[in-house]
Amino acid sequence: MTTTTGPSAATGAVGSGRTRVEGRDKVTGAARYAGEVPFARLAHGWLVLSTVARGRITAVADGPVLAMPGVLAVLHHGNAPRVDAGYVGMLGRPNPVVGLFQHDRVPFVGWPVALVVAETSEQAREAAEALAVSYEEEPHDVAFRAGRDDAYRPEDSPMVRADAEKGDLEARIGGAAFLVDEEYTTPEEHHCAMEPHAATARWDDGRLDVIDSNQGSTWVSAELAQLFSLDPASVRVRSEHIGGAFGSKGLSAHQVAAVMATTLLQRPVRVVMTRRQMFSLVGYRSPTAQRVRLAADADGRLRAFDHEALNLTSTVHEFVETSAVLGRVLYDADAHRSRHRVVRLDVPTPTWMRAPGEAPGSFAIESALDELAGKCGVDPIALRVRNEPATGPVSGLPFSSRNLLACFEEGARRFGWADRDPRPGLRREGRWLLGTGTAAASYPSGVGRSTAAVTAEADGTFTVRINAADIGTGARTAMALVAADALQVNPDRVRVRIGDSDLGPAAIAGGSTGTRSWGWAVRLAASDVRERLALGGAVPREGITARSDTADAIEALPEQERHSFGAQFAEVAVDITTGEVRARRLLGIFAAGVIVNPLTARSQLIGGMTWGLSMALHEEAVRDEASGGHVNADLAGYHVAAHADVPLIEADWVDDHVPGDPVGIKGIGEIGVVGVAAAVANAVWHATGVRHRHLPIRPDRVL
Ligand code: MOS
Repeated sequence: MTTTTGPSAATGAVGSGRTRVEGRDKVTGAARYAGEVPFARLAHGWLVLSTVARGRITAVADGPVLAMPGVLAVLHHGNAPRVDAGYVGMLGRPNPVVGLFQHDRVPFVGWPVALVVAETSEQAREAAEALAVSYEEEPHDVAFRAGRDDAYRPEDSPMVRADAEKGDLEARIGGAAFLVDEEYTTPEEHHCAMEPHAATARWDDGRLDVIDSNQGSTWVSAELAQLFSLDPASVRVRSEHIGGAFGSKGLSAHQVAAVMATTLLQRPVRVVMTRRQMFSLVGYRSPTAQRVRLAADADGRLRAFDHEALNLTSTVHEFVETSAVLGRVLYDADAHRSRHRVVRLDVPTPTWMRAPGEAPGSFAIESALDELAGKCGVDPIALRVRNEPATGPVSGLPFSSRNLLACFEEGARRFGWADRDPRPGLRREGRWLLGTGTAAASYPSGVGRSTAAVTAEADGTFTVRINAADIGTGARTAMALVAADALQVNPDRVRVRIGDSDLGPAAIAGGSTGTRSWGWAVRLAASDVRERLALGGAVPREGITARSDTADAIEALPEQERHSFGAQFAEVAVDITTGEVRARRLLGIFAAGVIVNPLTARSQLIGGMTWGLSMALHEEAVRDEASGGHVNADLAGYHVAAHADVPLIEADWVDDHVPGDPVGIKGIGEIGVVGVAAAVANAVWHATGVRHRHLPIRPDRVL
């Protein structure tokens, strides 16, 4: 159904599998990451984080530290320059952690309280660890649990309503033949990008130049300009290669610290986070406590759908993990309610993490659907077919395209679902109990304004300029393919420049919007160039350049439900002697519009599915209520799926034509993780007859 090695033809580039254009640079080390770019007279900053969960800084004993070898400066709330963190950026108000060193209050363990700058990274670290900071401590509260009476309804965001409702819920629950009413929880989870957050800042001929690792240099440069009250044109942010981001790489404390220090010292300053610092500074996925009520008729048709999701946030910033939005897309019911609630604790502010909302939300509702299937005696896939909506269940809007059932059909065929005995706890192989499970997946297909420039060079090659961010996804390669098709040339003749705010505004690599957003702008500019070339005449030495801006085209998009969809399948074995759950096979079939580069797309989907497996079985950040800090803020204690945990994983897709859509591309960044944890939990139930409603499904919970 898909090809991974495509023709090297002049057209048909989109849909042909291509290795990353920068792949050789990456594996040979020629590609430089933000913490590696060399500069003369480079100084190194090391962040010092609070050790108390709530209180005030009473003293920063910088004197002795300033006398240590190589130390150049100690920045803290008593001497740092003032910044303005009250702005509203591209994605709303910034995380208050970017208002670095502006006051003496400490809202959580791991809040930045000082930056030590020294000649070498080692000297900075030595001095940072020696810096004595005194606090006046106050009582703190980090206990997240369902049923807290201080939970509140969060503000609606422009994108997501906190609450949505239709029909008379209690009345429809009243007369139901079957009711599932359960609570599900997911723990605090972390992005754990392989490349730690890093930034190098310097003043270059009156401009602030920042080498960074981020998901959008347009975004980060605009926010730095706002924060430091600079002319936006005087800020340049570059982010050429990025070793993973997953929602965590926007503006954070390290870029701000580097800019403050380079301004003070007038030499380049680099700030790199440690793995441990990332656990408190760059956001994470909030734990969730979710209640799901599904009421159905005797044949499994939903009469009422009710989902309430609680997450935590810090005392200084509101973040909503939008776990309850998924049901607004997946299932129809006569009465429908989905609500978000938030509780404020003395913890760092959570943020977007791969499939924010849908990842934990799908664990709850796709587990609940499986429970309902068991109660009704209806096959889990047949149950989903029965509850497939014709239009948006709450919005009433048409779907741009859906094809969820096509994903289930193809997945069921490849997984051998038809032969499945639905009864739990029957299959045994030595000390292993075996089971299979499935779950649906969905994630919105959004788009953000982008500009692009495409130049036909005099030598017959083409240069694409777009401020895309390649967070490991293969964005450069995807844009080369999109441009090649629009230009009707071989992709080998196209070079792509990305990751530089000087290229002009473009959407972030976030929310699965990157390829759709940038691809649109690139195609418009490339088509324009091609038309001009078709007029004939020699290409002048400076080339022929066309520019595009998708702002108006985005405005003109019709109101629709636009989402990617998928069906996840899992086969597990459960060791009855140790409680260990081993996944034996994962299969994901997706409907995600045009797949630009099947080779990297498959990798990205498999990466998401691996993460889902990790979420199901391993990942859990644990907070100590006494200290308020983590007990496992490192990759020794915070477990992620490693190679030995990853079984046969297959990802593929069905044709998903989006009628009338000007781009056709939907987005695949998030959807791979959605539903996997539920598919695994459903398989564990099928293996053992025991339902696991709390992640991760650790051996001690299984036994
Ligand atoms: Mo994604 S969580 O928007 O990087």
